[in-house]
Amino acid sequence: MHEGTSFKRCIACIGAGYVGGPTMAMIAARCPQYKVTVVDINASRIEAWNSDALPIYEPGLLDVVKVARGRNLFFSTEVEAAIREAGVIFVSVNTPTKTFGEGAGKAADLQHWERTARMIVREAASDKIIVEKSTLPVRTAAAMSRILNANDKGIHFEVVSNPEFLAEGTAVADIDRPDRVLVGAQETPQGIAARDTIVEIYANWVPAEKILTSNVWSAELSKLAANAFLAQRISSINSITALCEKTSANIMEVSRAIGMDSRIGPRFLSPSVGFGGSCFKKDLLNLVYICQSYGLSEAASYWESVVAMNDHQRRRFVSTMVGAMFNTVAGKRIALFGFAFKADTGDTRESPAIGVARQLIEERAQVVITDPQALDNAKIDLADHLQAIELTDDPYAAAQGAHAIALCTEWQLYRDLDYRRIFERMEKPAFIFDGRNILDHEALYKIGFNVFPVGKGALKHF
Ligand code: NAD
Ligand code: UGA
Repeated sequence: MHEGTSFKRCIACIGAGYVGGPTMAMIAARCPQYKVTVVDINASRIEAWNSDALPIYEPGLLDVVKVARGRNLFFSTEVEAAIREAGVIFVSVNTPTKTFGEGAGKAADLQHWERTARMIVREAASDKIIVEKSTLPVRTAAAMSRILNANDKGIHFEVVSNPEFLAEGTAVADIDRPDRVLVGAQETPQGIAARDTIVEIYANWVPAEKILTSNVWSAELSKLAANAFLAQRISSINSITALCEKTSANIMEVSRAIGMDSRIGPRFLSPSVGFGGSCFKKDLLNLVYICQSYGLSEAASYWESVVAMNDHQRRRFVSTMVGAMFNTVAGKRIALFGFAFKADTGDTRESPAIGVARQLIEERAQVVITDPQALDNAKIDLADHLQAIELTDDPYAAAQGAHAIALCTEWQLYRDLDYRRIFERMEKPAFIFDGRNILDHEALYKIGFNVFPVGKGALKHF
């Protein structure tokens, strides 16, 4: 038992965000023998974790939190106390793209990580395992280890990499039944012991064959590479959409045909208005920066092109709208259906809808945004344009008097709307631009809409 408590082990997690909250809630729910304390400097976030209105919208998460909260799962702002108590400290603070100085616009900003490491050194009174849960540039563990172990208290910190692969919207299932868990450690006796400790935590619910171990650098790099590969698949399919539109090929048929090749597989081949989310672009740019800093310019430009294709796809979506609507959207009311970067989340970080809205505002359109979960974030993202936009959680109200609908997020609710009712309340000719290809295009056309899918011929009444 851990000294001073009845728990077998005390685990802390610094950073109560999209990763720290759900992953620690699952560890606590699955392992009542551990005490898990999640800490953050953001007091309102912690307050929300302690309520029934969690700070992030994630299906099924509240149930998991409720299993363990107050039993062996605690959310707190007392970072120092949690550091002192825990033998294992996960760090899942944010690692955004650097916006200043060397590497600005590409490199990862590690200031939160380094600040956390220094606080750990200051507060710790015993040896600890520090787990990199945030996504970090390859070889960060070396720098962190140097900062942590440059202490005069005789304390040893072992840095382990355990990148997180969950996707938002499916976080609970992803953590509960992961494709794999990866634990990278130094190949020293202390490194191997630390690795075994982390493996033991996951082995409480993850089958042994799904727990991979590697050296630290492979684990750090695998995370960046996995996100780069996933994003690359989306840019690859999106790169074919314009060609489909020119040639009467249908991207849905092409995607299906490609994906049935067992060497390629069907997932992550859905064409779209572009990928969003806090990580794909940031991690791609980080990979580009790392390649450049090792002088690997060909590899850098290869991965940079994935980002460029994504930006192009989003701009192309708006260009198609403007072109279709007689080359002007000025003064026209345009309803954005969906603002979250994907369905089943309220997260809007790097959402393609932000760029779409901004481009439409530049074209002087009247933009009305509807989303079941993301309106608060939309207000923040477009704070500099609040006079040019309208926000409503009612898609029918959004469509009232609109010239066009631009579907940006694949929420199920948008498939199930009464489009006949929507058509009746819109200006004519009425347009729908389906940036996710989730609607029944033929049925919409029959109602009277001019329908512009992605990567499929438009269905026009003129
Ligand atoms: P987030 O911004 O939601 O959460 C990070 C939290 O860390 C914030 O609440 C912030 O207040 C806190 N924090 C920052 N500095 C701190 C400090 N010094 N002390 C205490 N708390 C501090 O970020 P996130 O989406 O959870 O991502 C965290 C990391 O995980 C990133 O590296 C990201 O790339 C990676 N990741 C994210 C996802 C995802 O789906 N969001 C998935 C896999 C990996
Ligand atoms: C992604 C990865 O899937 C996770 O494995 C990873 O842990 C996470 O990034 C991270 O490191 O943050 P996430 O961004 O939450 O997860 O969501 P995804 O399902 O990957 O979707 C990303 C974006 O790509 C969304 O905008 C989505 O709509 C878009 N997308 C996805 C497509 O346009 N087409 C597809 O076929 C799939």
